[in-house]
Amino acid sequence: MVAELLARGWTLIDDFLPPSELRLWRDWALAQRACLTPARVGRERRLDPALRGDRTLWIDNLGEVEGGAPLAARFEQLRLCLNRDCLLGLDTLELHLACYPPGGHYAPHHDRVRDDDTRMLSCVLYLNEAWMADDGGELQLFESDDPHGEASSVQPLGGRLALFLAEGRLHEVRASRRERWSLTGWFRRRTSV
Ligand code: OGA
Ligand code: MN
Repeated sequence: MVAELLARGWTLIDDFLPPSELRLWRDWALAQRACLTPARVGRERRLDPALRGDRTLWIDNLGEVEGGAPLAARFEQLRLCLNRDCLLGLDTLELHLACYPPGGHYAPHHDRVRDDDTRMLSCVLYLNEAWMADDGGELQLFESDDPHGEASSVQPLGGRLALFLAEGRLHEVRASRRERWSLTGWFRRRTSV
């Protein structure tokens, strides 16, 4: 996994959440529905539904969510492993719950906003049950900055963690036919002083 992440800039861990925990997180996610607010884009945090259609809820402390300790521990284990093997200097994890309504998408974008290069690694943990190929909602990881160019396509399968190096990686969420749930986050490096 580490070798693949370094060589091509992205990798997948398909069983990051075992099925019993997937059910728990899915139930938790559905129970947060009323707390979700339209996601914002860019440094100015503006609303732009044509660019981005998901609704999100920021999670301050994953370990404090009921039943959340094992997942928090797994993210911490991942952080330590990546720091040891990739020297990425990952420090904190910022995380939000995200729900795309049917037809919602996120146009091609980068995860680093201007003037802030502390987001090192993007992590998306999918919470969908029985996702089918024709449900859509793929994460498209472009090979270059050309949104019409070559891309790898990742299906948002429940329990799957998609990881990609944030720097310079153009990516997109394609519209899906069903509601599409994920826990999406970024490992940041420490800001230099
Ligand atoms: C994001 C994003 C990818 C996904 O929220 O910035 O690119 O597959 N998400 O949900
Ligand atoms: Mn993104």
